[in-house]
This record gives sequence, C-alpha cells and structure tokens, in this order.
Amino acid sequence: MIPFFRTTVTGNEGRYVNRVLENADAFAAKEFTQKCEQWFNEHHGIAHFFLTKSCTASLELAALTLNIQPGDEVIMPSFAFVSCANAFALRGAVCVFVDVSPTNMNLDAEKVEAAITSKTKAIVTVNYASVACNYTALRRITQRHNLFIVEDNAHGTGAKHNNDFLGTFGDIATFSFDHLKNITCGQGGGIAINNKNLLERFYVAYEFGTNRRSFFNGQTDRYEWKGLGSNFPLSELNAAMLFSQLEECNTINTRFVQLWNKYFEELSPLAVKGKILLPQIAEQSQHNGHCFYLKTTTAGERNKLIAFLQDRHINAQFHYTTLHGSAFGKTVGRFVGNDDLTAHHSAALVRLPLFYSLKDEDVVTVVDVITDFYAH
Ligand SMILES: Cc1ncc(COP(=O)(O)O)c(C=O)c1O
Repeated sequence: MIPFFRTTVTGNEGRYVNRVLENADAFAAKEFTQKCEQWFNEHHGIAHFFLTKSCTASLELAALTLNIQPGDEVIMPSFAFVSCANAFALRGAVCVFVDVSPTNMNLDAEKVEAAITSKTKAIVTVNYASVACNYTALRRITQRHNLFIVEDNAHGTGAKHNNDFLGTFGDIATFSFDHLKNITCGQGGGIAINNKNLLERFYVAYEFGTNRRSFFNGQTDRYEWKGLGSNFPLSELNAAMLFSQLEECNTINTRFVQLWNKYFEELSPLAVKGKILLPQIAEQSQHNGHCFYLKTTTAGERNKLIAFLQDRHINAQFHYTTLHGSAFGKTVGRFVGNDDLTAHHSAALVRLPLFYSLKDEDVVTVVDVITDFYAH
C-alpha cells in the first residue's frame, strides 16, 4: 500500500524530547519554545512569533485579537478548512464566502471588493498548497477599506513568494504543525503578529485573558483578568519535537519539492492530452511542495479515479468540501457573487500521496496507475 501521508521524522526528535523529560525545570524554562520562536525570527524575519496548540487555536486567537464582535463580517474562500470559518463564527461573525481564483485554489482578489460592506472587519486568506494569494491586490483593497488580513499559512512553513516568506503578508498569520504538515510536532501551531498595533490585545488573549506578560516582564506587580482569552501556548514537549524539524526545514521542504516536481513532470503528458488539469504555479512562487493535486474533468471521474487508485493499493484523497455548500455554513454565512469555480474545482480535486519518506519509485507507480486509468 502507498499511504496518502506518513508523518515526517528526521532523527533528532527523540533526543530533544528526552532533554525535556530529563529536566524537571524544562516546562517552566521553555527553552525549545524560545528556540522555535527565535527560529521564525531569524529565518522568516517574523519579529513576533508565538507557538500555539494548533493552527485552529491560532485562528481563534486571531479572531480574539481583532476583537471580532457578533454581526461583524469576515470574508474568506469557501474552499478552506472549517477552522478558518469556525474561529470567526465562534465570535458571532458572519462568514462571507468568495470564489477562488482560476489559476490556483486561493481567494480571487478580484471578487473580494464586491463582498465588502460597512460591517466587514477582515479578510481571511488561505495559502493553499503553500502558494501565496495575490497580496498586492488584497493589500490595496484592505488599505482602501481599513480591513485586516488574517493569512492562514497552515501549509506554507518555509515557502516564499517573490523571496518573501509566507506568513509575513497578513496583519496576522497562522501556521500548522499537525502530523500531516511538512514540518510537524504531531500537533501544534504558530501565530505571527505582523501588525504591531495588535500586540497588546494579542498578549491578553494569548495569556489566558490576563496581563500576565506585563507581570513576567516586571512591568506590573500582579496580573489580573483583562479580557477574553484562553490557554493557547504549545507544550514544551511538542516544541522540542518541532525545533528538531525546524533545524531541518530546508532539507525537508527540498525533498517535498523534488517529489512534487517529479509528479508534475510525469503527469504532464496526461495534462497535454487534456485528460487532467495540473496546478499552475506562478513564476514568483517558491512553494514548499506540501500538497500535489490534479483536477479531473468531473466530480464523478474524480471519485472513480480515487477508487481505481485504492483498488491498486494507493491512497489518494479529496480535500476541502465547500463551506458554503454545507448545511451549517448556510446558517452562519453567505456566498457573494457567482460560484463559478469553487464547487466545481473542489469536487474535481484529487491529492496524491506526498510525504518526506515517499520514494521516487512510488511516484512512478502512482503515475502509472493514473495513466492506466485514463487508457480505459
Ligand atoms: C488551511 C488550514 N487551516 C487550518 C488548519 C487546521 O490546522 P490544525 O490541525 O493545526 O488545527 C488546516 C488543517 O489542515 C488547514 O488546512
């Protein structure tokens, strides 16, 4: 069986985790937490980076930091993970869904402005498969309308656009290190506060809803309840595993990109014949190979292809089902404009096995089976 994914392991994880277990003060000292946060500072140029328990937690923290109130509107793609919407729905916001772009599966910047009302507070973007959204166009819009960007960069650690790291474009950016990401600690996340004006409110939400950060910094002699917040920081055990992988970030991402390129090359003949659509990556994008997907002509064909691969012991998977198409999505949101692409592309998309320990021969096997499928 070629599995869909196997969690990345590079070798130092156990050693670093044991260093935490062997030191009774490690959980208080948070050496690895600091090392990880420093790593994003040094390697991604993110001045204010914090570890969290998950990208889901980071998105919820973003909603608290932006002080989202009931009735506020937040624009987002409907082709997105449910946490992007839940984080804001939990605060009583209305999710306003906009179509994806024809060239990638990201929010179509050209369709965003029509969705803005006097209640709009923020735009959530997803760097799908570690490919950046059109932030130049989106920034023009947010500046015109005084809105925030929450950049969901769950997929994009180490990826760049025009030599700028993903996770540096939003006022706030969120990261995932769950077991399915290139860089992982089993379960974990991160948040970058790129807009310094948001830091004060962020610290309160991140520190249980208190001014504990000021207390630890010696700016106050006690700390107290200041607002809404929760227990967001990551465990030091997970931080130890994460740091071992951040040290290997380039090696890990390079291997993902090699495998991604191999899929692309090997599948190109089928794309040239018009059987499938392959991802279109802009020249300025230096993605991290997180996810390789192709699109079939119809949803029915996609499901048959997944079943055909499964019969031949290959686990390929679909991805997000549309948020606006779900029964719950209709109660907390609305789609603005025409759904020209979202539903169709979501139903036609197949993700192929791609993980750090996948072998080149496995890619060839997967492509042979897909070629065989289209030969019938
Ligand atoms: C775009 C996106 N955002 C958020 C998440 C949630 O990440 P986590 O599992 O770290 O909460 C995911 C999950 O894969 C995702 O794909």
